[in-house]
Amino acid sequence: MVIHSQKETLVQALSSVAKNEKIGFVPTMGALHGGHISLVKKALGENDIVVVSIFVNPTQFNNTADLAKYPRTPEEDISLLKNLNGAVIVFLPEVSDLYDDSVSAKKYNFGGLENEMEGKHRKGHFDGVGTIVSKLLRIVKPNTAYFGEKDFQQLQIVKKLVAIEKLPVKIVGCPILRGKSGLAMSSRNKRLSAKQFKEATIIYKTLKEVRDKFRSTSITDLNALVAERFLQNPNLNLEYFEIANEETLKTAKRKNKASKYRAFIAAFAGEVRLIDNMPLN
Ligand code: PAF
Repeated sequence: MVIHSQKETLVQALSSVAKNEKIGFVPTMGALHGGHISLVKKALGENDIVVVSIFVNPTQFNNTADLAKYPRTPEEDISLLKNLNGAVIVFLPEVSDLYDDSVSAKKYNFGGLENEMEGKHRKGHFDGVGTIVSKLLRIVKPNTAYFGEKDFQQLQIVKKLVAIEKLPVKIVGCPILRGKSGLAMSSRNKRLSAKQFKEATIIYKTLKEVRDKFRSTSITDLNALVAERFLQNPNLNLEYFEIANEETLKTAKRKNKASKYRAFIAAFAGEVRLIDNMPLN
């Protein structure tokens, strides 16, 4: 495993990769967990070299306290990646290396995908994600980049980004990894107390209940059911629940057999904001 903390040295190292060798890329914000490791393992299985970036991107945080408290565990991250014994290059840049004078995001139009769910609740978030993912893809120039489905809206937006910017990279979405309790793996779980960790499983349980009842229950009734489940669990504060069309991410009012739907939840356990989603049909 090799570590680069500067864009220039990374670019130089990647320029000596043979033309027939495939580069995989896993962008992360660090505090690595099983979900990230599953992406890196998949990438190692499909490529000759895998670049993993670890960079907490300031422009995608709409809340400075959230940015300050975002878990940062670079030593543990590096040792987890080392243990994989694969052809991994870690890219650990500083903010000044990726943003020149102004730490600001480009304004994007992702065809409306950016205005749904996370976009409504985290103003400017996807401009920040688009800006950094575009920068990283232009530096690493991977054949394939891997993103987790836990951030399903982000995955759809990244697919749109590479289409808009005509970036020659294949975007692969990978399934959510869950702990024993069903809670989706997330770097933010590191900030949960033992009690909150237990309570947060309501998110998964509720999504599963929605999935199990999806065929037989109207969307209106499913919305009411979820509201009720969160009322019964006052320690978890529901920010939104949506059943949305997988492609457009628009809220579904009623079901259409030809469409694919997913249920999405964002909820707070104390100060910690958690998101999760599940395919319904
Ligand atoms: O999903 C994340 O960790 C981040 O949004 C990403 C894609 C690394 C961009 O900062």
